[in-house]
Amino acid sequence: MPGKIQIALASDHAGFRLKEKVREYLARRGAEVRDLGTESPEAVDYPDYAERVARQVANGQVDCGILVCGTGVGMMLAANKVPGIRAIPCTDTISAYFARAHNDGNILTLGSRLLDEATMEKIVDTWLATPFEGGRHERRIKKIDAIDEHFHTEKSS
Ligand code: RB5
Repeated sequence: MPGKIQIALASDHAGFRLKEKVREYLARRGAEVRDLGTESPEAVDYPDYAERVARQVANGQVDCGILVCGTGVGMMLAANKVPGIRAIPCTDTISAYFARAHNDGNILTLGSRLLDEATMEKIVDTWLATPFEGGRHERRIKKIDAIDEHFHTEKSS
């Protein structure tokens, strides 16, 4: 039997309360959750938390990540700076389904200003239940990786 899915989770202050709900929900679902902060609604900077989760996902220390901020957008922008990360903001189950099936998303970003708890649960369920379809989508993901590689190589040369 495969082990528990491992998920790195974090938020900024705007996402703190919803992040707490996400952690409780994931625990009820039997996931192993690494909560990387923040620990209170006191103001922090979302890139610091996006980077923590993105590093763990990119290094293969966890299966995927979930990041929560006010809109899911800041977290997406910061996490996607880490090579190999495909952080995708989802506001409904349709975006969550295609983010996994077609885009092979490895970090789900959520907006606390946009989502109630019940919607968050449906999005998380869809994200975790949907496998990447591969096939023609694999070719497109490889093209995204090639863009990443191109600019990183160019910068360092
Ligand atoms: C913090 O106020 C807010 O800017 C942040 O949570 C997020 O929404 C950024 O995208």
